[in-house]
Amino acid sequence: MAHQRQQTPVLQAHGVTKRFGVLVAVDHVDFQMAEHEVVAILGSNGAGKTTFFNLLTGMFAPDEGSIRYKGEDITRLSPAERVAKGLTRSFQLTSTFDTLRVIDNLVLAYYRSHCTTSIWSLLTTRTNSLHKESKILEAIETFDLQDIQSRFVRSLSLGEKRRLEIAMAILADPEVLLLDEPLAGLAESEIKGVMKVLRNQIGRQTILIVEHKISHIQDFAQRLVVMHEGRVIAEGGYEECLKHPEVRRSYWQIEATEDENA
Ligand SMILES: Nc1ncnc2c1ncn2[C@@H]1O[C@H](COP(=O)(O)OP(=O)(O)OP(=O)(O)O)[C@@H](O)[C@H]1O
Ligand SMILES: [Mg+2]
Repeated sequence: MAHQRQQTPVLQAHGVTKRFGVLVAVDHVDFQMAEHEVVAILGSNGAGKTTFFNLLTGMFAPDEGSIRYKGEDITRLSPAERVAKGLTRSFQLTSTFDTLRVIDNLVLAYYRSHCTTSIWSLLTTRTNSLHKESKILEAIETFDLQDIQSRFVRSLSLGEKRRLEIAMAILADPEVLLLDEPLAGLAESEIKGVMKVLRNQIGRQTILIVEHKISHIQDFAQRLVVMHEGRVIAEGGYEECLKHPEVRRSYWQIEATEDENA
């Protein structure tokens, strides 16, 4: 670990701040991820998690501070330019084509990032050779898509669609996978399916996941970052973060209340 920390972080934010009028949504946040690390950002509603995520992906430019990818300043790069460098976010940039089959969506995701072939020629090429690309076959297996590969995306359940979206994001071979609440709206059984496919990616990618509930990512994330009112209030392992007085006051209280209501 000590050796890993000395390496240039894969992703790094320094003093990043984003304001919406007088509201400071993200307030001087310092953050970094080492290669293949799995980090979760937690926090109650309005803590600034999505805004911070959007600063990392390039959806917003920060008012202050800088963002680096492998040491290179990417603060002013567009989302597409960041994706080209190896940062992939699910889901906005990997939206599915609902009128196509699952397999066609996988083919498009793969060839969009690996070939120069036009989308039109991909769609009109009716050879099975495209479907037999080993990376695509591997994705079908890894993400448990065997039984649904011939179905149209519009007929999938939310959980099945989420697995497809993550498969598509991963087919682009990103170095960093950024996921903002990939479990949102899913039933408990679907959450298990999505977490299973994400667990397969540990060690292959650097993964950042934004999540509301600590219990969902307890066995997944190696490090937690807890945000509250735009600031990082705690960082580290589970025990460490859960014991933190500020976390108990803000985040933990809210999760406990939600559990009581559930
Ligand atoms: N585009 C925007 N314009 C104005 N205010 C915004 C905008 N986006 C977010 N905010 C505000 O910034 C603060 C942080 O919001 P953000 O969406 O980042 O929180 P979050 O931690 O992702 O919350 P949630 O758990 O509900 O997803 C909130 O007060 C929110 O109302
Ligand atoms: Mg959010």
